Amino acid sequence: MSKDEIFITEDGSHSIHSGKFDVSYHSRHGAIAEAYHVFIDAALRFKAVIQKDIQIMEIGFGTGLNAYVTLLEAIKRNLNITYTAIEAYPITMNQVETLNYPEELNPDYKDQFIEMHTSEWDAPITIREEFSFEKKLMKFEEIDFKNQFDIIYFDAFAPNAQPELWSEDILRRMYNALKPDGILTTYCAKGVVKRTMKSVGFTIEALPGPPRKREMTRATKEIID
Ligand SMILES: C[S@@+](CC[C@H](N)C(=O)[O-])C[C@H]1O[C@@H](n2cnc3c(N)ncnc32)[C@H](O)[C@@H]1O
Repeated sequence: MSKDEIFITEDGSHSIHSGKFDVSYHSRHGAIAEAYHVFIDAALRFKAVIQKDIQIMEIGFGTGLNAYVTLLEAIKRNLNITYTAIEAYPITMNQVETLNYPEELNPDYKDQFIEMHTSEWDAPITIREEFSFEKKLMKFEEIDFKNQFDIIYFDAFAPNAQPELWSEDILRRMYNALKPDGILTTYCAKGVVKRTMKSVGFTIEALPGPPRKREMTRATKEIID
């Protein structure tokens, strides 16, 4: 297995190329740009129009970038976010300390970025009044939440690298974990993935993608009376 490598994406923010999975954690065309586009704009800001209390599950905590941009957004909009981040293969503290997200986004909360990484597994903490946080060291395949989340950031490695994480079984677990009217967003717009999402009950929207990507997907657990 080759080693992980930290590299700079086109917007100046870091990403990691995973030696284990031979794929990068974010788009090469901009890690921060992708995080804002797919998860903040298409999911969090979309939900925050109608509610301030928001439960989020992240599929793949990875570098903590999505969690950090969500913390910044919670502070900016005075939201009340409960964030559950799932991860089976955490990055090292050396990698965390190298990542330039606090410097690129807002260095005032660098301590909170580090705290998310150093916090205990399975131990909810209050990072800020607007942002409660818990990391769970587990595989996506074991997720068994029911009607718990308003939003899922589905940020698994791409289907080419890990097809098993885009299966009917996993997507049904995501559907079950969402509350009615809950949404899942992902950078992925593959036809087969959208068809599998539909088959487990999701309503699908194709939205414009992040830089240099035509489309992304928002899936809603629409409950029809
Ligand atoms: C695309 S990266 C996530 C990027 C992350 N959201 C961020 O902001 O940096 C996918 C993540 O899924 C994790 N992962 C891969 N297979 C997994 C599995 N079966 N269960 C849990 N985590 C897994 C990887 O270790 C990696 O951190």
